[in-house]
Amino acid sequence: MENEHNFRSVRVAIIGAGNVGATFAYALLLSGLASEIVLIDANLEKAEGEAMDINHAVPLTHPARVWAGTYEDCAGAVITVITAGSAQKPGETRLDLTQRNTSILKQIIPQIIKYNPDGLLLMATNPVDILTYAAWKISGLPAKRVIGSGTILDTARFRYLLSQHYGVDARSIHAYIIGEHGDSEVPVWSLANIAGMRLSDFCAANLYKCNDELLATIFKQTRDAAYEIISRKGATYYAIASSLIRIAEAIIRNQSTVLTVSSHIQSNYGINDVYLSLPAVVNAGGVEKVLNLNLEANELKGLRNSADVLHRLLSQLTFD
Ligand SMILES: NC(=O)c1ccc[n+]([C@@H]2O[C@H](COP(=O)([O-])OP(=O)(O)OC[C@H]3O[C@@H](n4cnc5c(N)ncnc54)[C@H](O)[C@@H]3O)[C@@H](O)[C@H]2O)c1
Repeated sequence: MENEHNFRSVRVAIIGAGNVGATFAYALLLSGLASEIVLIDANLEKAEGEAMDINHAVPLTHPARVWAGTYEDCAGAVITVITAGSAQKPGETRLDLTQRNTSILKQIIPQIIKYNPDGLLLMATNPVDILTYAAWKISGLPAKRVIGSGTILDTARFRYLLSQHYGVDARSIHAYIIGEHGDSEVPVWSLANIAGMRLSDFCAANLYKCNDELLATIFKQTRDAAYEIISRKGATYYAIASSLIRIAEAIIRNQSTVLTVSSHIQSNYGINDVYLSLPAVVNAGGVEKVLNLNLEANELKGLRNSADVLHRLLSQLTFD
């Protein structure tokens, strides 16, 4: 998008100025990736308050215009990030939550597309894989331009926990969580890698513990991290905001980064027509390519189970 001075501005629209949306907006300002950040929320006062607060950090961080806007302001946004909706209420089933958040998407998405048919949609609202599928269906956009945060957060948690155990910078650890962002997610132990060595070889060469019980504990802590955080502080938002920043960076800077985002799977491992996470190449066009991993039989079984779980939930929803 060009303004009257012909400077290129980078606009990011955020729908939902709650914990996740506001934290992402603040992280986006700190990142310097965007020059225009618009917050849109059904609760206008909340969006206004967040925009005012974030604006007061501008003189101390990066030049940017931050405001509480309307759907018209989605026009020209490179990415529209959707964080609107709510988390599971006590006693509410996963299907109830899914239906409630799908109804919200049916209100939101047509308005975004009306003003911005050319941008990318980035979904964070849970259950993220199902809602990314819903956003794709409702928007009519090409699948590569509708992306879910998927297991990028779970992958970060996994790498953090491995780094704590092995005393190595998490950025030196390559290990993926794939499948659903949720209970059926799958750790790819067979390809977990430190210093160019598979984890088992790294442990053997450096006399570290690597038994099944320990690995099971690390995965359980990864998978159940959100429950642990929510039981203590009611919500999670810092690490998901950083996950969204990482995806936004890959898009805005056209980095072709491999990230475990939720993308539309069409023929990987015989899995079809579902959004779930596999490592994918992400750049300015969105998901450029979903990569196949050389999975072991039990990992492939876990991935297929994840796809089945998601297919079952999808079959109970309508998107018109
Ligand atoms: N994908 C992930 O890894 C991940 C991680 C953390 C949270 N989440 C999810 O993100 C979502 C948001 O969490 P939160 O803690 O920010 O919730 P929150 O309740 O703090 O914020 C949600 C915001 O959405 C707004 N909203 C509701 N309906 C709307 C509508 N129709 N139009 C515009 N705005 C609307 C609300 O006013 C509120 O400000 C939840 O679904 C949560 O489960 C996802």
